[in-house]
Amino acid sequence: MADSTPPSQETLSNLLHETRSFPPPEELAAHANVKADAYERADEDRLAFWEEQAHRLQWERTWDTVLDWQPPYAQWFVGGKLNASVNCVDRHVDAGNGDRAAIQWEGEPGDSRTITYAELRDEVSQAANALTDLGVGKGDRVAIYMPMIPETVVAMLACARIGAVHMVVFGGFSVDALGQRLDDSQAKLVITADGGYRRGKPSSLKPAVDEAVADRPAVENVLVVRRTGQDVDWNERDVWWHDAVGGASSEHTPEGHDSEDPLYIMYTSGTTAKPKGILHTTGGYLTQASYTHWAVFDLKPETDVYWCAADIGWVTGHSYIVYGPLSNGATVVMYEGTPDTPHKGRFWEIVEKYGVTIAYMAPTAIRTFMKWGEEIPAKYDLSSLRVIGSVGEPINPEAYVWYRQNIGGGKTPVVDTWWQTETGAIMVSPLPGVTSGKPGAAMGPIPGIAADVVDEEGNSVPDGEGGFIVVREPWPSMLRGIWGDDQRYKDTYWSRFPGLYFPGDGAKKDEDGDMWLLGRVDDVMLVSGHNISTTEVESALVSHPEVAEAAVVGAADKVTGQSIVGFVILRGGEESVPDELLQELRNHVGSSLGPIAKPALLLAVPELPKTRSGKIMRRLLRDIAEHRDIGDTSTLTDASIMDVIAKQLPKK
Ligand code: WT7
Repeated sequence: MADSTPPSQETLSNLLHETRSFPPPEELAAHANVKADAYERADEDRLAFWEEQAHRLQWERTWDTVLDWQPPYAQWFVGGKLNASVNCVDRHVDAGNGDRAAIQWEGEPGDSRTITYAELRDEVSQAANALTDLGVGKGDRVAIYMPMIPETVVAMLACARIGAVHMVVFGGFSVDALGQRLDDSQAKLVITADGGYRRGKPSSLKPAVDEAVADRPAVENVLVVRRTGQDVDWNERDVWWHDAVGGASSEHTPEGHDSEDPLYIMYTSGTTAKPKGILHTTGGYLTQASYTHWAVFDLKPETDVYWCAADIGWVTGHSYIVYGPLSNGATVVMYEGTPDTPHKGRFWEIVEKYGVTIAYMAPTAIRTFMKWGEEIPAKYDLSSLRVIGSVGEPINPEAYVWYRQNIGGGKTPVVDTWWQTETGAIMVSPLPGVTSGKPGAAMGPIPGIAADVVDEEGNSVPDGEGGFIVVREPWPSMLRGIWGDDQRYKDTYWSRFPGLYFPGDGAKKDEDGDMWLLGRVDDVMLVSGHNISTTEVESALVSHPEVAEAAVVGAADKVTGQSIVGFVILRGGEESVPDELLQELRNHVGSSLGPIAKPALLLAVPELPKTRSGKIMRRLLRDIAEHRDIGDTSTLTDASIMDVIAKQLPKK
């Protein structure tokens, strides 16, 4: 972890005086799954609290010990046995809910499928039998490189059922990224599809797999779902899903797996280095995924229709499309395609069509919808929504308010949920029936989580000051390590503050003691001796009515150390903007945050460089601002945007 300084208190106390606050709707608060007492109970006895949550699940054998903590290694519910797929599927059928829709799937071209819990149990059982027939056993790794189709969920649950470890690779990743992950995990089976629909046309997956496995003999078979019907090359080790799974028995007797048996590996790339294989195990992970999904979204499985718009290729999809919602018996909407295909109202059309009551998406999507204009969602009936959530990046206060107003009809709580691939499940978030939400703030740790903001020395900061977020006590869904690299696990998360887990994010406590997440510490700028967070300058820019999105970076400056260079996308998307407007935007930042935070240079651009998971890549903007050749762009959604942005920059 790069050593960095925390945002200085002096600067932070000047920043963003957010006074808006939205109390929970009375009706929701009255019937909320979780009330304020949960915090007290968890504070009194944290382990008893998590033990109570573990009883949400069905165990074949209960645990002997709740937590075995040998820092930095935790084991939860030691001695317990359970099967994650039974918890996500069979249990609901056995309880008489077999006819409930588990998945309401919407394909990009408009085809759709409803899969009930009973049907899901049959398919998962068939797939489990097929995997066993292909020689996959407990502990084996299985790569899943798929579009957003129901078979992806079936494949994950079938792995979980037989104790194989799934490793989902985002379908937008390249051959090299797939190959690197196959090498590191030594997967023996790859599950893929001919292709999926993206932006109105079939996009292929199988050719990338063919290339990746060509010189990787460890992969024994490739199991292929037919989705688009496009032509595929066929190799000796390839097997059609409809033959192998379709022909298998739907009877499968599951065994209980150890609470600490691996469930999956999810690679997270960080900024530059080799991706880290984050390992999650079974009992603790499922407990926290299940509890947080029920508590943070106030899920009522009988009546809610829940939609998480993330891709299953990210941890958000694992915990909040698959394991959390299905373990709770929820009805989950799943959408294959992009938000603007065939038109920019597609998301809202889906909300209206399925009567979605809970929606969960990323700030980058919300800011895109802001840019497209509020008249688009206004055309649809979104009145079914009752809780809406955000995840993946800090949500700027203006984006929060826009989301609440234009999507939530001015009445739904917005839950800004902070967590990471490594934490496995939500850690910091408001609770919709308890917390008065503040635009831009993730508010506080959920019950049972000991997150705090500390200074350079690891001491808790007082209200009104900033520093680093840390977690003081182990939590059930914490990563159990980095696949094959123990030293890196210790170095990355446990060395900055001895005894504390360090996620790598900056944070502050405001005057009320509420928590704000300020992005990766590597993104903090140092201007004339002041630490200024990119997030706060960006939020100030987005709070101007003309601005839809903003990214700022610190560029080396002989005089000030770093100077702030900002990139903005205007609402409506114009690129040629009068200098007066840019001047006005700079002054706007100056008056909201103080003159020190005024960008020295501000450019209007048509797009920003983003990773495929929607995070702004400030590292590349810094390269541009410092007139350097830009570094690795392989994880960008669209690398050509870098040239467009570079052209806007004044010559040195
Ligand atoms: C990083 C983790 C969480 C699952 C999806 C991303 C940033 C995430 C928030 C939030 C501010 C957030 C952090 C974190 N982040 N949620 N609500 N407010 N920042 O998982 O790819 O592992 O990324 O995303 O910087 O460390 P990930």
